[in-house]
Amino acid sequence: VDAGVVLAIETSCDDTAVAVVAGGRVAANVVRSQAALHAPFGGVVPEVAARAHDAAMVEVVEEALAESGIDAHEVEAIAVTKGPGLPGSLVVGVGAALGLAVGLDRPLIGVDHMEGHLYAATIEGPVALPALSLLVSGGHSELVVIEAPFRYRLLGRTRDDAAGEAFDKVARILGLGFPGGPAIEAAARDGRPDAIRFARALRNQGFDLSFSGIKTEVARYLEGARAAEVADVAASFQEAVVDVLVAKLERALESERVETVVIGGGVAANGPLRERVAELARARGVGAHIPARSLCADNAAMIAAAGAARLVAGEHAVDGLDIEPTRSL
Ligand code: KG4
Ligand code: ZN
Repeated sequence: VDAGVVLAIETSCDDTAVAVVAGGRVAANVVRSQAALHAPFGGVVPEVAARAHDAAMVEVVEEALAESGIDAHEVEAIAVTKGPGLPGSLVVGVGAALGLAVGLDRPLIGVDHMEGHLYAATIEGPVALPALSLLVSGGHSELVVIEAPFRYRLLGRTRDDAAGEAFDKVARILGLGFPGGPAIEAAARDGRPDAIRFARALRNQGFDLSFSGIKTEVARYLEGARAAEVADVAASFQEAVVDVLVAKLERALESERVETVVIGGGVAANGPLRERVAELARARGVGAHIPARSLCADNAAMIAAAGAARLVAGEHAVDGLDIEPTRSL
């Protein structure tokens, strides 16, 4: 059983994303990035993001439908990110989704953004449960056990900054631009990961994470460093963050009996993290779901996948949506 043709909209942050998924196959996955718009400010400006979503929405919906080769009237359900995210941005997506649902007379389902990141892995194949998931994005960093469909148990989360936020802030300190994750990964290729030993906060304690200390440490280190060392700082910072994330997964695998490890969220696009998670899973004899980079970053295909799963499970569609930013999972 599948949910047929699902059109999904995701506007939680600064990407206007629309996807069409037909019987589990991604027919179109359009992401219109606002990165260039926010870059001069060094971060996402909520008001600018909401206006840009509004300006792009109709065009992006049309582009996704055209790319899918599927007519709007063949769409069987609409899925939309209901939160968490920037309220102004969410309102635009929810409004558009509601308009489509009413106009096409189709059910509308609201999807939690982080559940969407989890479902990205399912697009590439079934995920055996229970699974241990590492969700690392610009707004969240959490370790969650997926015990059964829609049954989650939070093991740990960041006490301060999210992993992606740390990448963005350190990139800004290093003058590498926005978004920081890809910029740091690129700069790190010319650097030595063992050049500087940055602290690994909470590495050997429980499952919570903390990434606010390391940006202060990087800033302090740079006061006495030369520009030529940027690559070394980027590589050493990346190494420290990846090391902590992988150590937490390893700890979790020692106490949780799971079939697979799943990663998701923008930071899951990070090359060294992907390699080390794959290595860890191999060493531990569990499966690893490491979604394509385009499915790790914010996209609407993951929202369609999660929405379809909930529809198939019998969840009732809603007439209107509570667009208050919701708590994760
Ligand atoms: O999931 P996402 O696209 O949006 C949120 O839900 O936040 O994640 C965006 C975050 C940003 O902080 C960005 O710097 C980070 O993911 N990111 C990366 C990489 N690509 C994106 N972090 C590390 N390495 C990358 N290659
Ligand atoms: Zn996200």
